[in-house]
Amino acid sequence: MHHFVYKDGRLQAEEFDVAELAATYGTPLYIYSTATLRRHYHAFDSAFEGLDHLTCFSAKANSNLSVLRLLGDMGAGVDIVSGGELYRALKAGIAPEKIVYSGVGKQRHEIEQALEADILMFNCESVPELELINEVAQEKGLVARISLRINPDVDPQTHPYISTGLKKNKFGLNLEQSEEAYRLARDLPGVDPIGMDCHIGSQLTSIEPFLEALERLKRFYAKLQDMGLAIRYLDLGGGLGITYDEETPPHPQQLGEALAESLKDLDVTLILEPGRVIAGNAGIMVSKVLYTKTSEAKHFTVVDAAMNDLVRPSLYGAYHRLAEVTPQKRQELPMDIVGPICETGDFLAQDRTLPELAPGECIAAFSAGAYGFTMASQYNSRPRAAEILVDGDQARIVRRRETYEDLIALETDALTGK
Ligand code: LLP
Repeated sequence: MHHFVYKDGRLQAEEFDVAELAATYGTPLYIYSTATLRRHYHAFDSAFEGLDHLTCFSAKANSNLSVLRLLGDMGAGVDIVSGGELYRALKAGIAPEKIVYSGVGKQRHEIEQALEADILMFNCESVPELELINEVAQEKGLVARISLRINPDVDPQTHPYISTGLKKNKFGLNLEQSEEAYRLARDLPGVDPIGMDCHIGSQLTSIEPFLEALERLKRFYAKLQDMGLAIRYLDLGGGLGITYDEETPPHPQQLGEALAESLKDLDVTLILEPGRVIAGNAGIMVSKVLYTKTSEAKHFTVVDAAMNDLVRPSLYGAYHRLAEVTPQKRQELPMDIVGPICETGDFLAQDRTLPELAPGECIAAFSAGAYGFTMASQYNSRPRAAEILVDGDQARIVRRRETYEDLIALETDALTGK
């Protein structure tokens, strides 16, 4: 459920008319709904109520400061994967003891930064990383709380680019390697192995892969206990899917109940790292039709948003529902919705049947609140879109539209030195 619905034939974002927002703030425009973010966070977090748990929103899905702050105010922690995300999380007022740090390529300066902030734990993905964390912590006279990211070799049955828990994926350590790494961690003075971690993939539409991964982790937990390790945290990562099109992902409640059953004998705090399920359907991206044209083969609608604004269709062939902001009765026809970027792969949809759109009108790409703006770039020297957050009858610009000056702000002219 989200708060982007049609009223009297016009798309609303909470109490705002989307066409009016587009006229006021310009396009392309990301619009996030406070009520939807709150609702999704609450639905997710309360699904694990019976369990000792911590919900760490995955910042990579949507790292806008206002979004992080809004979720943080509801009690969320944050899952980060870079020094930049740590910086954002702290700026947004997230308590360090609610921050977990994942990712295969943590650098020394990022490890230092996270140790100084005293985050809850590093989800460590390799032995060399473990050794570096140990070294940096010792230099600082600190002990880093860590878990190892275990790759349980479970097929999440999702897009290959976003499945992460298979043998062939770059993430984590297999069970055998993990055992060795925990042995090493136990003996390293600069690290304290307090957790186990896995994340098997994203946009999962059934709970079985989660349960399978958890079973494998539980067996391993017993082994770690035999090794004398006091594991207090079990981080199952993120990955719960959303409805983009016809998918029917499980409700968080179902996952919560299944996990509660499976975890009842374990004395651990469960950590979850949801991203998409919280933010995905809490945002839309609005763009304006520039031109239409018909070739022998196809009808094209050229809009002012491109793959630099929303890359998911181009990168993954992902489906985003597209719809008029002010629908009218007219002929429907199959078309490609394309952007102004000079790439054949620049499209929001291909062979989609939509009403014949007219220049000047706006269309909304739904489910754009996660991995939308965070994956945006300035390709083709296109200033990045504005982001606004609506809350009932309030709308705030939470990131202003970039300007041409922003495009070149960090560059120096080699000729003039300016
Ligand atoms: N935790 C870790 C360690 C992750 O790598 C991810 C996502 C998450 C949590 C959050 O997963 P979620 O709950 O959002 O599924 N750009 C792609 C998605 C990449 C996901 C990467 N990792 C997309 O647009 O579909």
